[in-house]
Amino acid sequence: MHIAIIMDGNGRWAVKQGLPRTMGHRAGVLAVEECVRAAANLNVTDLTLYAFSTENWKRPRPEISALFRLFNGYFKNKARELKKEEVSVRFIGRRDKLSRAVLKTMHEVETLTKGGARLILNIGIDYGGRDEILRTTNKLIDGVLAGKILQSDVDENLFSKYTDLSFNRSDPDLIIRTGGDRRLSNFMLWHAAYSEIEFSDALWPDFDKSHLAASIESLKSKNRRFGGLDHNNIEPTKRQAAAINKIDSFSENRVSKYT
Ligand code: FPP
Repeated sequence: MHIAIIMDGNGRWAVKQGLPRTMGHRAGVLAVEECVRAAANLNVTDLTLYAFSTENWKRPRPEISALFRLFNGYFKNKARELKKEEVSVRFIGRRDKLSRAVLKTMHEVETLTKGGARLILNIGIDYGGRDEILRTTNKLIDGVLAGKILQSDVDENLFSKYTDLSFNRSDPDLIIRTGGDRRLSNFMLWHAAYSEIEFSDALWPDFDKSHLAASIESLKSKNRRFGGLDHNNIEPTKRQAAAINKIDSFSENRVSKYT
């Protein structure tokens, strides 16, 4: 099961406590730790966290610096523990604007944790869904121009293999957004095609393992048809039969044969 999370609400959480916004991000790291630890025990095989978007560069410089210090610190301190827990960390997003120090930490943690099979932890840093789609398209064009890819082979499957999440076992089953807003904010636009989406009012630092467990529980009750039909229900129920009669009474071409 693949869960992806838009971790929103750090700033508001801090303001509520009368603290500067960056303290909200620090509290957000604790929520990340809790969810990573809980995920593997809840049968999550892939967890994707949106830590910094391609649009987050618009934030004040001190906030951006504080965020990158937090990412760096977290991965430096936790790399060994993550390896021990068989978590393999992968970063998704652009790499051309990141500092050398951050790139070095990213490379080290990816190398150290490579092969961890209990949980794949994808971290979106300078990640944007549109940017990913454009980069993927350009990679494919380069491949075609270089004669390495046949244009006729470019289909959804091949496209997926060239995205940042090429190593993933599946697209997200569930995307959770905390913080009360109801939008995707450029997150996983390619991969979200059939994801369930849950909007939680909890601010990210308050989102804990019980929230994660409840979201997973409610996912289990969803009837996911992936654009197909539910085959368990061939015979019309009384309610369906009444609806068909109603449609027939307004239709020129009667459709009462239930198909
Ligand atoms: C959005 O909340 C949150 C971010 C832009 C940063 C998310 C980062 C973390 C939770 C830390 C992640 C750490 C690791 C190690 C991956 P916001 O600041 O926009 O909140 P607001 O909407 O209340 O202002």
